[in-house]
Amino acid sequence: MTYTPRVDRYDRMIYRRCGKSGLKLPAISLGLWHNFGHDTPHATKRAICQTAFDHGITHFDLANNYGPPFGSAETAFGEIMRTDFRHLRDELIISSKAGYDMWAGPYGEWGSRKYLIASCDQSLKRMGLDYVDIFYSHRFDPETPLEETMGALDHIVRSGRALYVGISSYNSQRTREAAAILKDLGTPCLIHQPSYSILNRWVETDGLKDTLSDLGIGSIAFTPLAQGILTNKYLNGIPEGSRATQGKSLDMATINDRVVGALRRLDALAKARGQTLAQMALAWVLRDGGITSALIGASKPEQVEDCAGAINNLEFTADELAKISAISEEKEINLWARSAEL
Ligand SMILES: NC(=O)c1ccc[n+]([C@@H]2O[C@H](COP(=O)([O-])OP(=O)(O)OC[C@H]3O[C@@H](n4cnc5c(N)ncnc54)[C@H](OP(=O)(O)O)[C@@H]3O)[C@@H](O)[C@H]2O)c1
Repeated sequence: MTYTPRVDRYDRMIYRRCGKSGLKLPAISLGLWHNFGHDTPHATKRAICQTAFDHGITHFDLANNYGPPFGSAETAFGEIMRTDFRHLRDELIISSKAGYDMWAGPYGEWGSRKYLIASCDQSLKRMGLDYVDIFYSHRFDPETPLEETMGALDHIVRSGRALYVGISSYNSQRTREAAAILKDLGTPCLIHQPSYSILNRWVETDGLKDTLSDLGIGSIAFTPLAQGILTNKYLNGIPEGSRATQGKSLDMATINDRVVGALRRLDALAKARGQTLAQMALAWVLRDGGITSALIGASKPEQVEDCAGAINNLEFTADELAKISAISEEKEINLWARSAEL
């Protein structure tokens, strides 16, 4: 069936300037890391993307290796572009990345010019696009000169493959170095993509959040729901089919009694604010304007709807913030710490 987007979609979302750039991003963006591989029906993927766009979510985030298998999320999104979004291309911000393991041999991961440019070409082909809006270096490569990685990003823009570039999971110091190189090359760093949530506050302790605001670089926080932990999903056990049962990126052992106790207290706070726990977790990430967009994932369209509702209450009292901080200090979960520590 032909997809016709809701006419009121832009009244249902707020848009925030990405650093000092001319680009605005929706406060909530959708990532296709999970639930867009061969193990999810295509109809579900379509419904998730359509629901997102109907809520004014204009930004879809991908990477070369999202699946499984690697590449299949981009292929699925390419199909959705073809059937549903083709006429909407100029209303969309589509990103992809290269950095993690993608193909065999020494040119299939990390940060060489060889890998980044080849991977970008493969991503464009899979998605059936002439260009992506944002292309990222997915992680810092300690063995490749930063000048080479940033030079490849600059080339990707100059050759018309991307409009903007970004970096992901680089720590504060590496971010300063990368941004300086990109500035010299004349292709400013638009955006940084770090993990950030109530349960994972490394961007504050590392100084990255302050660095980004100092440099005028925008930011998009990934896993703002801690892969679903910061929702009502795990409050009363571990439901069948949830990410924690899939043996992929979320270890079931993470959801122990101590964490569930903390989640129940967060849930009570959210209820008192008139929000679901997911909505409060997203509002918290967006609370002080330091983060441009919260980058969610979803396994069902209803989750996108719930998350989009976060924008209805982004204000926190000092007392609420203190209570949340006290809880977040009890337990830290940072699955991407290693990349940021390099
Ligand atoms: N740059 C990087 O290195 C990097 C790394 C990781 C992710 N990312 C990006 O960040 C995106 C988001 O990551 P993520 O999927 O881990 O984010 P997340 O938003 O923290 O977790 C998404 C999961 O939470 C659950 N969920 C979402 N909304 C819900 C709701 N309203 N109620 C109940 N449960 C809800 C779903 O779990 P169930 O599946 O259990 O239903 C969903 O799959 C990725 O798609 C990717 O684009 C980037």
